[in-house]
Amino acid sequence: MDSILKVQNVTKHFGGLVAVNNVSLDIAKGEILGLIGPNGAGKTTLTNLISGIHWVNEGKIIFEDKDITLLPTHKRCRLGIARTFQIARPLKNMTVVENVMVGGLFGEKRTLRQARMEAEEICSRIGLEKLDTHFDKITVLDIKKIELARAMATNPRLIFLDEVMSGLNMDETRDMINTVRKLRDSGVTVCIIEHVMSVIRELTERVIVLDRGEIIAEGPYSEVSMQHNVISAYLGEDA
Ligand SMILES: Nc1ncnc2c1ncn2[C@@H]1O[C@H](COP(=O)(O)OP(=O)(O)OP(=O)(O)O)[C@@H](O)[C@H]1O
Ligand SMILES: [Mg+2]
Repeated sequence: MDSILKVQNVTKHFGGLVAVNNVSLDIAKGEILGLIGPNGAGKTTLTNLISGIHWVNEGKIIFEDKDITLLPTHKRCRLGIARTFQIARPLKNMTVVENVMVGGLFGEKRTLRQARMEAEEICSRIGLEKLDTHFDKITVLDIKKIELARAMATNPRLIFLDEVMSGLNMDETRDMINTVRKLRDSGVTVCIIEHVMSVIRELTERVIVLDRGEIIAEGPYSEVSMQHNVISAYLGEDA
């Protein structure tokens, strides 16, 4: 596999709780990988470790052959790792386009004018309209797209999408699925965290299943979703 990211034996504790336990995984260049598992499995924590929001207690993270384990978030961002947040963080006193510009200004040195032009281009690419609208006028889909657009504005090569479909109706979900596909087709590797399994089935080539901080299965969704330990993890029974 031609990897863009390697996670090697990564562990994260929060006090006595082991949120991520000795996890190793590779993400292949150009794939859409699904990261799934029940609530509290450690999916968001793993994303936080890779994007540098939390530090690992043990293990290594390698991005494009560079050891990034000890790099701060903004440096990982400049290297090309982006993520959306499970709980969207819109800046409510700013317009749609200004929210997206924040990503471009965080990622690299740009003038406001450049950042605005790039933000407008990304918004048009992903069908985010009403650029100068304030937050009281927009839909859940707009908020999710702002999250995505802001991450894209950092010009990533690898992006983590943490539950970008939650709260969307069927038409909006369809729109978001197409948007994610286009993003990958433009050359960005995608890791999508999602509870909506129809989305995972449709979008991903491969999934990794986490449960209680450990990887319990890996493979195409069609195979993994039939495994007893995966079904048990979701139903909360002992395998
Ligand atoms: N900052 C933190 N401090 C303490 N415990 C945390 C922290 N972040 C996560 N945890 C705990 O780590 C475990 C994994 O949480 P995490 O949010 O990574 O799960 P998840 O797989 O993203 O779940 P969900 O599907 O509900 O979003 C949970 O038990 C959670 O309570
Ligand atoms: Mg989560």
